[in-house]
Amino acid sequence: MAHCWGKRGETLLAALALLLSTSVASAQDSLANPHEGNPGAARAGRALFETRCAECHGADAKGISGPDLTDLWAAGRSDGGVFQTIQRGVPGSIMPSSSAPDDELWAIVSYLKGISTVSPVEFATGNADEGRQMFGANCAGCHRAGGSGGRLGPDLSRITLSRSRAGLMSSIRDPSAAMRVGYRTVTVVTAEGQRIRGLKKAEDAFSIQIVDTAERLQGYLKTDLREVQNEAQSLMPPFGPDRLTDGDLDNLLRFLASLREGGDAL
Ligand code: HEC
Ligand code: HEC
Repeated sequence: MAHCWGKRGETLLAALALLLSTSVASAQDSLANPHEGNPGAARAGRALFETRCAECHGADAKGISGPDLTDLWAAGRSDGGVFQTIQRGVPGSIMPSSSAPDDELWAIVSYLKGISTVSPVEFATGNADEGRQMFGANCAGCHRAGGSGGRLGPDLSRITLSRSRAGLMSSIRDPSAAMRVGYRTVTVVTAEGQRIRGLKKAEDAFSIQIVDTAERLQGYLKTDLREVQNEAQSLMPPFGPDRLTDGDLDNLLRFLASLREGGDAL
């Protein structure tokens, strides 16, 4: 469209763009993510990341030809700063700019923040003793922490070393948003019609290994199966604010963080 405005129109547009981008740049560094703490946004961001960014940054964002993006916040970057880099790209490198709507870019920021590694300061609030009790009552059936507990879900003893507070909150509030590899829900249907639900540990063209809900490792040849159904629903139930308040979650995370600092086991 710009070409029908003539030369002056183009200059005007360029000047306007410059004006906008500079004012937006300083504003965005302090700008808050409108989707902060919304697990739905992180889930959408993950899907966008996989299609637009993973080829260079890796499916786990740990980097291939592009750098590791899991340490941005630990390195002191702000939500707004990361947003801006994604929007503008890195001039002079293969990192492209993006003309996607702000909403989509913020969703990607939410996803990246959720998987980012962060400092212990993030887990400084809450009461570890109350968190320990809460963990015993709600989580220990499926998760180990400090040596005891169930084995269906991942061991959470060191989880606060690798996952941010925002990311853990979203994993607990909405587990299906991003299921960890090796813990994705699957149902296999045998030739006789028996259905076994569990977590997919490994799969190749000929076979599949799952851990069923009784924690038993089972292997199947695909020729013996009628069907393999990958499910979008985590085996972990969602813990909404009705089951665990934000204060309860603070206590839980404080307890988990105390384990990595050498606190007592359950
Ligand atoms: C064609 C490859 C490629 C694609 C696609 C790509 N990136 Fe990048 N990205 C890079 C490279 C290379 C760099 C490092 C640029 C430099 O600093 O020289 C980079 C840098 C970045 C940085 C800055 C890292 C830092 O330490 O400051 C962010 C953030 C980022 N990319 C996010 C994304 C997101 C989000 C997407 C998808 C919307 C994406 N990138 C798509 C290659 C890519
Ligand atoms: C019925 C079993 C079950 C219960 C109860 C359960 N979880 Fe989970 N949890 C899982 C499974 C399976 C996964 C892996 C799949 C996924 O990520 O959703 C998981 C994943 C997680 C993750 C993500 C771990 C990672 O490496 O990304 C966190 C954090 C977590 N659970 C915390 C909790 C907390 C806290 C509680 C108690 C409030 C709890 N879980 C209760 C089964 C359970």
